[in-house]
Amino acid sequence: MIHNNIDFNKKTILITGGAGFIGSNLAFYFQENYPDSHVVVFDCFRSEATFANGNLQSFGHYKNLIGFVGDVVCGNINSKVDLALLDDYKFDFIFHQAAISDTRVHDQEILMRTNVNSFYDLLAKAKYDDAVIVYASSAATYGSLPSPQTIGKENPENPYGFSKYVMEQIARQYGKENPDMVIVGLRFFNVYGAGEYYKAKTASMVIQLGHQILNGKTPRLFNGSNKIMRDFINIDDVIQANIKACNTTQSGVYNVGTGKPRSFQDIADLLQQELGTNLGTEYFPNPYDGYQMDTQADINSTRDNLNFEPKVSLEAGIKAYIPEIRRLHNEDIS
Ligand SMILES: NC(=O)c1ccc[n+]([C@@H]2O[C@H](COP(=O)([O-])OP(=O)(O)OC[C@H]3O[C@@H](n4cnc5c(N)ncnc54)[C@H](O)[C@@H]3O)[C@@H](O)[C@H]2O)c1
Repeated sequence: MIHNNIDFNKKTILITGGAGFIGSNLAFYFQENYPDSHVVVFDCFRSEATFANGNLQSFGHYKNLIGFVGDVVCGNINSKVDLALLDDYKFDFIFHQAAISDTRVHDQEILMRTNVNSFYDLLAKAKYDDAVIVYASSAATYGSLPSPQTIGKENPENPYGFSKYVMEQIARQYGKENPDMVIVGLRFFNVYGAGEYYKAKTASMVIQLGHQILNGKTPRLFNGSNKIMRDFINIDDVIQANIKACNTTQSGVYNVGTGKPRSFQDIADLLQQELGTNLGTEYFPNPYDGYQMDTQADINSTRDNLNFEPKVSLEAGIKAYIPEIRRLHNEDIS
């Protein structure tokens, strides 16, 4: 589906983090709708390196890009040598998705280096090329502030949320110093949909619970999960927001959610309904301190300034996702 009237054909588009969940969906959006666009994916892909929490340091996977016919550059955003591989291109649009996306990484140094320092380089590239730059921020900038979460009231409570918050401050200052640039930050809420499988334990609960159920196991949720609410947003609506962000002439930061929080219990129940199971639910104590109990994006400014309108309900999103959840059941994740 085409989300706006920009003709991306003949445009040169950089997608950092393009081997990841959101980045690869963006790459295919352009390939499918604008066959004459020139899309360049820049990603370090996955190595075998892990963080102290046992998760991989980066989740990019070649399988997310099977069928992609654009350019692929394997590089690390922390390396100026690698970033120089992009010098031969002049980009019209930059979608900066590459990041340590694991919200439970506590190594502050590597998080800040990766998510923050690289941003200066990408802003400089956008300035040099006169490109629109759209970058991924996060609802984690709000910490556990009460719903609805509104731009202007932030309180990050982990290093990941702080790194995104700092990126927004950098973007604001950069925009002030370069008023002709268009720099748009998108605070994604809980994104789910095709392409997330290789994020393993950091993928959404939709696919994780889907696979538990397909294993014949009772879905396991924290105690009180009917009251733990999240603003789950389908990947198609996240692509819509990225594309619509290219239309604006004004820099800014916008929430990308549905504005309609749903419970983890809803997810488990909808999955069971669609998968035709009746396994009940097993509850266990929530081990996390400072766990967000409720997220709900205030999307008024996203509607007004980007013309964004979420289209996919949780019911429709899960229903459409089921064949992919089934396809990936027991698929090798490494
Ligand atoms: N998925 C969500 O629910 C969600 C929510 C809020 C914000 N975000 C943000 O959206 C962006 C995309 O997230 P995603 O869900 O697609 O995650 P992802 O982990 O699938 O994608 C991130 C990509 O960046 C790459 N990457 C990581 N470190 C890199 C480095 N040093 N150099 C080059 N590439 C590197 C990874 O290999 C991966 O392909 C991230 O910035 C993330 O923080 C995602």
